[in-house]
Amino acid sequence: QEVEPMLFGLPLKYVSLVTLAVQNAALSIVMHYSRVSTPPSRSYSPAAAVLLNEILKGSISFVIALLRVYSVPEVYNSRNPFAGVWRLYREIFSADCWKLSIPAVLYVVQNSLQFVAISNLPVASFQVSYQMKILTTAAFSVVLLGRKLTSTKWVALCFLALGVGIVQIQTTASTTPRNVQVGSAHDSAPIYNHIMSPLKGFGAVTAACFTSGLAGVYFEMVLKNSKADLWVRNVQLSLFSLIPALLPILYAPIPLDSRGFFLDIFRHFGWWAWATVGIQVFGGLVTAIVIKYSDNILKGFATSLSIILSFLASVVLFHFRITPSFVLGSSTVLAATWMYNQPAGKEPTIITNVISS
Ligand code: C5P
Repeated sequence: QEVEPMLFGLPLKYVSLVTLAVQNAALSIVMHYSRVSTPPSRSYSPAAAVLLNEILKGSISFVIALLRVYSVPEVYNSRNPFAGVWRLYREIFSADCWKLSIPAVLYVVQNSLQFVAISNLPVASFQVSYQMKILTTAAFSVVLLGRKLTSTKWVALCFLALGVGIVQIQTTASTTPRNVQVGSAHDSAPIYNHIMSPLKGFGAVTAACFTSGLAGVYFEMVLKNSKADLWVRNVQLSLFSLIPALLPILYAPIPLDSRGFFLDIFRHFGWWAWATVGIQVFGGLVTAIVIKYSDNILKGFATSLSIILSFLASVVLFHFRITPSFVLGSSTVLAATWMYNQPAGKEPTIITNVISS
């Protein structure tokens, strides 16, 4: 039987889930701020951020994979100092490496859509809507992994969709496209010079939920059906991501005051942009660990915890207004997520009674 991996004396599975919840909340806040705190003419390129994310994540995974290869006694004791590099090269360019091209493209699309969504929605509404990932993940788990869902889980999914719907309707009604000047009356509050378009934001978040569900389930399928190392899989994923991530950069119009290719790409790339990329890289690595040692469904549960965190932070940082329908919608989403994650046979009796009656 496999030994459960531990970190700081706690099961890695739970440490990574809690870390992912905090990372998710931090990402949506920092990413939102990085997009709306500067006028559009001085904002950084999301395509550059997506590319940088893949380069950094791939490089970190490569170093971890290399350290692991060199810790194998056969390689460690070898007289050839390049034995590990050669072995890793063969593992990365293995016959089945092409399998990672599918989630790679999906994740690049998802990461780009996330920028569109977060630039056009309040943080809390984005987080709640992004919970629809649970629905798409469940649907793809049923279709691709042949998982069976209990009737409680299906009911939970319906409630999830209902809750997201309530939040979306109230956000669209209260955030009409306009130049939002929130918080200008407060010294510490950010000044938004940004035009938000909630419909565009919801369109992007819905599409991102589809790519998230499909990519996550596909990655789980590849990881669990082969013996290849997680970090090698991550390197393969990043390598395949480079092509779709580079395309929008290569086809971007050259600015009139061009200062050269690299300087153009990273134009206006300030501290907040770097922080966004840093949190994204960290999240990508933690997500991979969660998918490997836990599963996609528990991942959904972790991210729903992050709703509460980002909701509280939005109230403090962005003076987000709490409306009764927002509270109703997000409570429905949280309750649905909790219901969905009840272990089989331990569903709350009130729910099983309702279903069976
Ligand atoms: O929202 P979701 O949990 O689907 O997001 C997954 C995120 O994790 C994506 O941004 C994706 O790029 C990243 N990821 C990764 N490496 C993996 C799996 C996911 O970077 N092996």
